Amino acid sequence: MSLHLERLVYESTATGTTGSLGNLAVILAESQRNNDREGLTGALAAHRDRYIQVVEGPAQALDALLRRLEDDPRHRDIILMGREPIAGRLFSRWTMANARITPAHGEALDSLIDQDDLTPGRVIRILLEAVEGVPAA
Ligand SMILES: Cc1cc2nc3c(=O)[nH]c(=O)nc-3n(C[C@H](O)[C@H](O)[C@H](O)COP(=O)(O)O)c2cc1C
Repeated sequence: MSLHLERLVYESTATGTTGSLGNLAVILAESQRNNDREGLTGALAAHRDRYIQVVEGPAQALDALLRRLEDDPRHRDIILMGREPIAGRLFSRWTMANARITPAHGEALDSLIDQDDLTPGRVIRILLEAVEGVPAA
């Protein structure tokens, strides 16, 4: 049976503080528990007042997650930056990784935001680097 894997990237505005490790830890723990069950993998970054998340997995599980995310009062103004079919996963090792945004990653994100050039591909690369502990180029 084909699984129709897809990957999506979105950003949202946090209603609380993204800088609070407690908030992020709670979201990550819930995500990892659910995503393990749903076959979803990905990474979540908190940058300034935004969440940036990459999630990959079966299309139906992604649809269900988007509905839950829309109802979650911990963030608002979800902007889906991209969604596309994929042949394989980039984040297969993580049910939901904590993409730690270093100052260098933050600068890379800020300059893309300033230039209105925050494409899904660039976001995915920065999050993957953050997860794997590679400094931004
Ligand atoms: C920024 C952000 C990212 C989230 N990512 C996920 C996720 O990857 N998977 C997930 O199941 N829930 C995620 N959640 C939580 C969902 O919005 C929702 O609260 C949760 O799925 C409900 O789970 P429950 O039915 O087990 O209570 C996220 C929430 C926020 C604010």
